[in-house]
Amino acid sequence: MIDKMSNPRSELETHFNEDYLHFSDVVHPPEANDRATEAICELLSLRPGSSVLELGCGYGRITNRLAEKGVQVTGVDISPILLEKAELDAAERRVNVEYVLGDMRSLPWRDRFDSVFMWFTTFGYFDEADNERVLHEAASSLRKGGRLLIDQDNRLAFLRERWPTCSVVQRNDDLRIHVMSYDALTDRGNIQRIAVRNGRVRRTELSIRYYGFTEYCSMLRRAGFQTVEAYGQEGAEFTLSSPRLVVVAYK
Ligand SMILES: C[S@@+](CC[C@H](N)C(=O)[O-])C[C@H]1O[C@@H](n2cnc3c(N)ncnc32)[C@H](O)[C@@H]1O
Repeated sequence: MIDKMSNPRSELETHFNEDYLHFSDVVHPPEANDRATEAICELLSLRPGSSVLELGCGYGRITNRLAEKGVQVTGVDISPILLEKAELDAAERRVNVEYVLGDMRSLPWRDRFDSVFMWFTTFGYFDEADNERVLHEAASSLRKGGRLLIDQDNRLAFLRERWPTCSVVQRNDDLRIHVMSYDALTDRGNIQRIAVRNGRVRRTELSIRYYGFTEYCSMLRRAGFQTVEAYGQEGAEFTLSSPRLVVVAYK
């Protein structure tokens, strides 16, 4: 039974920390990052010069690749450790990205971007009101006709195939264990992360609200979007068994 209905800001910062970074290359190898970048360009029709905002950009694995394609990218994240890594990687790649330490629930831009996106389960960390607030902030940041993309787990496939479950990622002798459960009454998943590094064990928890496509449609229309489309992983057709649900909404 899950009692958490949201993650306090301090817990989000603690979860997306040095341990998250330590296992990131194993979870997201470079080829997967390249593929994801291509899919985002396609779904958002990005061109050199397009202006794009990534909410929850993490360590810049997508933002820096988009910048290499000539896209003007801004990345917002709540984790100083991940942003520092993003900036280092941007410098190594000799690309220019505007990185901003901030909270996706309160954004400073109005009618500015051609596209906004949240990639790899970056939506649903808050209670219902704050999750909708993120969508309103994204809408306000977009110019008229701009697109919002959200890439989440497809809960239909997840529930059939993977919950409750446990996954292990190994890097040398270090382990990252995710113990996952799902609450049928709240449609929230709870991920307990156990990181074992150099024999030391650290635990954090993350609660995520998993929305279905019809729920996205209602929320996105309330946030001011005109049309909403559904895709599967990296832009494939969306079906019951798609591992991902990718939502694209037009302002
Ligand atoms: C699952 S990670 C995905 C990171 C990145 N999109 C990627 O695909 O590598 C979620 C990201 O959201 C960030 N995040 C969590 N809460 C946030 C908030 N309130 N505002 C901005 N970023 C947040 C985390 O620090 C983390 O980098």
